[in-house]
Amino acid sequence: MLSYRHSYHAGNHADVLKHSVQALILDALKGKDKPFVYHDTHSGAGRYDLKDAHAEKTGEYVDGIGRLWGQDCPEILHPYLKAVKALNPNGNLRYYPGSPRLAAALTRPQDRLMLTELHPSDHPRLVQEFAQDKRVRIAREDGYQCLKASLPPKERRGVVLIDPPYELKGEYGDLVKGVLEGVKRWATGTYALWYPVVYRQDIDFVERRLKASGVRKILKIELRVTGDNAERGMTGSGMMVINPPWKLESQMTELLPYLVAQLGQSPQAGFTLEWLVAE
Ligand SMILES: C[S@@+](CC[C@H](N)C(=O)[O-])C[C@H]1O[C@@H](n2cnc3c(N)ncnc32)[C@H](O)[C@@H]1O
Repeated sequence: MLSYRHSYHAGNHADVLKHSVQALILDALKGKDKPFVYHDTHSGAGRYDLKDAHAEKTGEYVDGIGRLWGQDCPEILHPYLKAVKALNPNGNLRYYPGSPRLAAALTRPQDRLMLTELHPSDHPRLVQEFAQDKRVRIAREDGYQCLKASLPPKERRGVVLIDPPYELKGEYGDLVKGVLEGVKRWATGTYALWYPVVYRQDIDFVERRLKASGVRKILKIELRVTGDNAERGMTGSGMMVINPPWKLESQMTELLPYLVAQLGQSPQAGFTLEWLVAE
């Protein structure tokens, strides 16, 4: 079943969190000249038009990137915002970069991007988006199968973003299985796992399984725009980052209170920053 379309949600508060973390990880990888790989298991369309019918219907971006646009944001957000601004050179917010477009903007000629997307409409868009970029390989394959087949990467450096739609309950189990298979093949890579805050028990399940797996160095980053309430749908989102760059914890210590202040929708808004498993 492939009913999820990210075009309804692009640029919302969850994208702001995910993409600002992604940008910080990529920025850290550029600290060395050696090439690295960016591997995106669930890529989406690559770029979104915030004036199209899908984005207009939900208006989710208004309470996401819309609240940061034109603000004097902390320097820590500059790599992410620079990539959004590059798509909107006249200063009007219209286009929003999905994770692959953001990665393409923040990587160098020597780096490589591996993208997978299954949706029959989003896959061709993604192909078109990167038709001119020789660094990018796109497969219409299951993201976890492709990940398994691609690891370890020849560069031995890089980041894997795992950002499933979570349409089905089983996807939390698939996430854990997929990431553990990845770590088994490539233990030193950075893995950034995105999750929505809808049912807290689903997040607890992932945490328990990761903690029990023996994998070390897992940083949990969560932004709640209001208190947990499954009846209201997604009230926040988070990232579990395995092998995060060493500066990410202190960067998020600075960034999360700012994001709560800008994106919070009620007094129950808040954040969590903790090691699920330390060194
Ligand atoms: C949350 S969206 C991705 C958004 C994107 N990562 C971003 O940040 O811009 C999830 C995507 O996964 C795709 N998808 C669903 N199941 C998949 C699978 N098994 N393998 C690869 N892609 C899949 C969906 O079609 C959807 O476009």
